[in-house]
Amino acid sequence: MSTDGVDTSRRRFLTASTSVVGAVGVVGVAVPFLSSWQPSARAKAAGAPVEADISKLEEGSMMTVEWRKQPVWIVRRTAQNLKDLEVLSAEMTDPDSEVPQQPEYAKNLHRSRVEHKEVIVMVGICTHLGCSPTPRMEVAPADLGPDWKGGFFCPCHGSKFDLAGRVYKGVPAPTNLVVPPYKYLSDTQILIGDDTEEGAA
Ligand code: FES
Repeated sequence: MSTDGVDTSRRRFLTASTSVVGAVGVVGVAVPFLSSWQPSARAKAAGAPVEADISKLEEGSMMTVEWRKQPVWIVRRTAQNLKDLEVLSAEMTDPDSEVPQQPEYAKNLHRSRVEHKEVIVMVGICTHLGCSPTPRMEVAPADLGPDWKGGFFCPCHGSKFDLAGRVYKGVPAPTNLVVPPYKYLSDTQILIGDDTEEGAA
């Protein structure tokens, strides 16, 4: 009967439509799922290593570069600054960097590569709740006291760090500042975010 014919073809149409909608639905779900597994070029660039030219970085001064949307500080310390680190160790929570907040090659008094121990590279984010501490390079400023030898002060809750990024005892921040992976491309070029050896896999 014609009624059956109409009904049947309508049913077929509805079935077909449902299948198409279903397929579109699956594609609609699958695309974002796949893209979450395949980082975009922008995302890759955001995580890429960053080069820093330290040729103009003078003793006792610092520069900031951005890596993975974080400020990375590079400080060229003076000979006196390096000496002060030894004296300050007694005031630090983790003077020997036992907590792995740095690559193995920076687990030393200076928290830097030994061949360029005067230069430290660290992420400028407080390990308490993530504020960016303020560089306080001056010695013995009135607000930080006569024993202050230069370092970083977090204005959010008062955490203090020395010029190796080591956290003082008795402040809210639990650990030293993070030293990211880095390597020297030359005496004046640092690559931040990559410390693989030449020829390594
Ligand atoms: S975020 Fe730095 S002390 Fe709290």
